Amino acid sequence: MKTSVQQALDVIQRENNEPICAYIYDLAGMQEQVRGMLQTMPWNTKLFYAIKANPDPRIIEALLPLVKGFEVASIGELLKVRAVSQEVPILFGGPGKKESELKLAIEHNVSYIHVESLLELRRIIAIAKERGQQKPEVRVLLRINLRSNTLPRTKIVMGGGPSPFGIDEESVDEAIELIRVEGAGAVRLCGFHFHSLSNNMDARLHAEMIELYLQKVERWQQQYNLQVDFVNAGGGFGVTYDGSPGFDWSLFTTLLQQSEARNRLATRGGELFFESGRLLVADHGYYATEVTDIKRSHGQMFVILRGGTHHHRLPASWGHNHPFHIVYTDRWEHEFTRPEVRGERAHIVGELCTPKDRMYSDAEIDCLRVGDVIVFEKSGAYAWTISHHDFLGHPHPAFHYLMEGDEHVNVNATFQSANC
Ligand SMILES: Cc1ncc(COP(=O)(O)O)c(C=O)c1O
Repeated sequence: MKTSVQQALDVIQRENNEPICAYIYDLAGMQEQVRGMLQTMPWNTKLFYAIKANPDPRIIEALLPLVKGFEVASIGELLKVRAVSQEVPILFGGPGKKESELKLAIEHNVSYIHVESLLELRRIIAIAKERGQQKPEVRVLLRINLRSNTLPRTKIVMGGGPSPFGIDEESVDEAIELIRVEGAGAVRLCGFHFHSLSNNMDARLHAEMIELYLQKVERWQQQYNLQVDFVNAGGGFGVTYDGSPGFDWSLFTTLLQQSEARNRLATRGGELFFESGRLLVADHGYYATEVTDIKRSHGQMFVILRGGTHHHRLPASWGHNHPFHIVYTDRWEHEFTRPEVRGERAHIVGELCTPKDRMYSDAEIDCLRVGDVIVFEKSGAYAWTISHHDFLGHPHPAFHYLMEGDEHVNVNATFQSANC
């Protein structure tokens, strides 16, 4: 069956006479995105999906045949992946892992645990030893927080300075010694993990940052006489929400192809991992909400939605205006006037009793009426999953999925035919 955002909206309207409120995930678009990314990646690099960006089971299922595996940051996330596949490689990261979580992760056969602190390493060693000699070694990557002021600065910085994430570079020595002495035969150090930032837009700086990671690893390899099978360079490939150019994946992978440090890693049989979230899914999710009221207050126009930041917290969390398109509808059965905004600015806000529930400030609106639907684009990552769904008890949105073989979501085509 062919479908599109417009058709998906029609289905929602027909099924339910309540105002529209739905997420639409274009699974085929996500798959195409990943296929495109894989095409230009050097042969010894592997792509994992960090499911924190969007752990919807249908997305995990859609990406399963394409990615090398999944990065998870809790047992909840781990079980979501295992519900889809018992075998797919899993990287288990995140600060403050509890003993019960570590035990379950090992039972569920995670491929590698990203060690976030020396205490966590001690816990892993103790658990691994308790399991006994017959069991395979627990494989770990040490997550390192580099001592560096040369890392790119973005909105979300997780390394290169004080941070709860990873082990400080100064403690690499101690961590390796712990594994060698205390963990011998129980824990195996397979490599290193870095994730220093999110939403980086500068492909050249990103490539330089990875070069730095690889050079550091080479130094440790020589200094401690280590076999390093894997370097996980994290995620952090950015997406823009203001129309400016996004992360240039093609330039990034070209620079990676040319990287001598990556080549040396390959020569030694090592692989370079990426665990990307946002870039894989952000552009292929849409959040559609119907306008339920429009009013003027003290000279400013407010457009109120059936939905808001309790479903899509990203604009409030980042303090940005979230890009959108309008779908015009004829939904108006009343005798009284249909409120509208025409040729002026308006704030687009949600249905919560808080002034923080704002999706867009001062939007320039040609025409918008109560009953029309606002479709927020770039809503596939860190949208539903980071939101406070149950605050005020409004019903959750519906979820719709566009599959392979469906007509591709062409937002512009959908809206060109619209009128107001
Ligand atoms: C350890 C780790 N890996 C990967 C990611 C995914 O980052 P992104 O979605 O920016 O690619 C995150 C995000 O916070 C993370 O903390």
